[in-house]
Amino acid sequence: APEEALAKVAELSMAQLDAEATACRYCPLYEAATQTVFGEGPPSARVMLIGEQPGDQEDIAGRPFVGPAGQLLDQALLQAGLKREDLYLTNTVKHFKFKSQGRRLHERASAEEIHRCKPWVLAEILKVQPEVIVLLGSTAAQALIDPSFQILKQRGLVKELTPLAPTVVATVHPSYLLRLKDKTQTEEEMARFVADLKLATKSRS
Ligand code: URA
Repeated sequence: APEEALAKVAELSMAQLDAEATACRYCPLYEAATQTVFGEGPPSARVMLIGEQPGDQEDIAGRPFVGPAGQLLDQALLQAGLKREDLYLTNTVKHFKFKSQGRRLHERASAEEIHRCKPWVLAEILKVQPEVIVLLGSTAAQALIDPSFQILKQRGLVKELTPLAPTVVATVHPSYLLRLKDKTQTEEEMARFVADLKLATKSRS
């Protein structure tokens, strides 16, 4: 029952949750991945950022957002006036999913894998109780708001009542910006991304 799960989570420290997630076998992704990449940041954080899943470098380092997408996120956070060390950063799915073709190429997690991993991100939300949650990309937004959420059309403050946090912002994933080829478009999209991140600072009480 949800009440029991909630009571159990409430009894566990963040370190204990991390340890439980490390041993997670709810889906097969742990078999090929190096390790579980749990969230990081102060449990007292007022703002939580939720990405998609660890990438190649995160899988090796065991920390979220340390690869190319993470470096772009760092730049955007700086421009938005947010300090990374004040935030709690995590992912919807805690293991890297990839196919090996010389190098390890990112693959989207299935609906089933996302569903099986969801207790961990919900536990993190319950523990941290952030004032603001920023959902980065469609995997996070679809897993946590609505399976039909369209990030490019519905980005920004999420107006529908959501029990996740008092304020929820949905925006693009930093890797979306990395995939753009045109320089002008990249600059415009970066500015929009930074503007979305600023919503998280404005909404802070
Ligand atoms: N992309 C994500 O969604 N999360 C990470 O931690 C790294 C890349």
